[in-house]
Amino acid sequence: MKALVYSTHGFDRPFLEAAANGHELTFTEQPLDAQTVSLAHGFDAVLLFTSDHAPADVLQKLHAAGVRYLSLRSAGFDHVDLEAAYRLGLRVANVPAYSPYAVAEHAVMLLLALSRKLQRSIQLSLQNDFRLDELVGWELHQKTIGIVGTGSIGSAFARIMAGFGCRLLATDLVVNAELQLQLKITYVDFYDLCRSADVISLHCPLTPATRYLFSAPVFRQCRRGVVLINTARGAIVNTADLLDALDDGQVSAAGLDVYEHERGLFFCDYSHRPIRDALFERLRSHPRVLLTCHQAFLTREALESMARLSIDNLTQWETTDSCVRELTPQAMS
Ligand code: NAI
Repeated sequence: MKALVYSTHGFDRPFLEAAANGHELTFTEQPLDAQTVSLAHGFDAVLLFTSDHAPADVLQKLHAAGVRYLSLRSAGFDHVDLEAAYRLGLRVANVPAYSPYAVAEHAVMLLLALSRKLQRSIQLSLQNDFRLDELVGWELHQKTIGIVGTGSIGSAFARIMAGFGCRLLATDLVVNAELQLQLKITYVDFYDLCRSADVISLHCPLTPATRYLFSAPVFRQCRRGVVLINTARGAIVNTADLLDALDDGQVSAAGLDVYEHERGLFFCDYSHRPIRDALFERLRSHPRVLLTCHQAFLTREALESMARLSIDNLTQWETTDSCVRELTPQAMS
């Protein structure tokens, strides 16, 4: 197939070139949007990243340009209007579980860095201040960890936390029976999880049901001093409400790899231009927020797997007219 790779970055191009498997790949650094959709003229397929945006009007133009296949270089699919794609006859597939360990380990890294005050420790040592008074941490052992979503990443995270000797609570639309059996994880109602957990880690997709799942009324029901880890999608959390909850101590710390308004900001170089986002400034400068910029997936293993699977989606469509990773609008419910 002739495929246009939108939002190409230095970190993923070599992996995609190595995985091409006879497909003719053309690379652009431009993200897909209403302006750049014209670049796709004459291509059979586009390969999209999380920073690309494919609402109904963009999909309509992709279809008019002759594109029939969208292969997502991501597990998340909230940046594509699946219903509109389905109506237009556009085929969409993602790369689920390309490396759940990459994201799960990053979530653990954020949690450990917060629990042992790593950011402050680095700041102080760079100032030649080696006193420990501000650096008293807390142990994960025997803490209650609440996991929202026990799919590929949530279950990898659960297995790691079990190794720390944590008590595991989970909430999901479906119970993962294997995980329940192996780890003694207890499935509870969402609000019970919020009330009981010392740490809450988010691993569900962004859907209409999970948008702003965590906002002021839910923070008020959480255990005072809860730690929130979000490596899933920014808009699952109302950022302004999170900052208020951090300020009044209801949330003691937040480790975030995603931000609700990250499109057009993350993955870009702003070192020579201003960032006009007061909410983001407030978030990243908060002393009890540890923020990484959507890099949880960024391991060699995950990039290799992401490239191989997103190309395999094209091969499957070309050779069998079907694809095991094809998404339908039901994925959004
Ligand atoms: P998955 O599909 O294997 O698991 C998601 C789980 O969430 C499923 O078990 C599902 O039933 C559950 N779920 C759905 N709605 C829910 C709700 N309302 N409440 C509780 N649980 C709910 O997906 P996977 O691979 O584990 O990825 C999870 C999310 O992580 C992705 O949707 C994506 O947004 C995010 N992600 C972030 C990355 C990063 O670099 N920060 C990289 C990869 C994924």
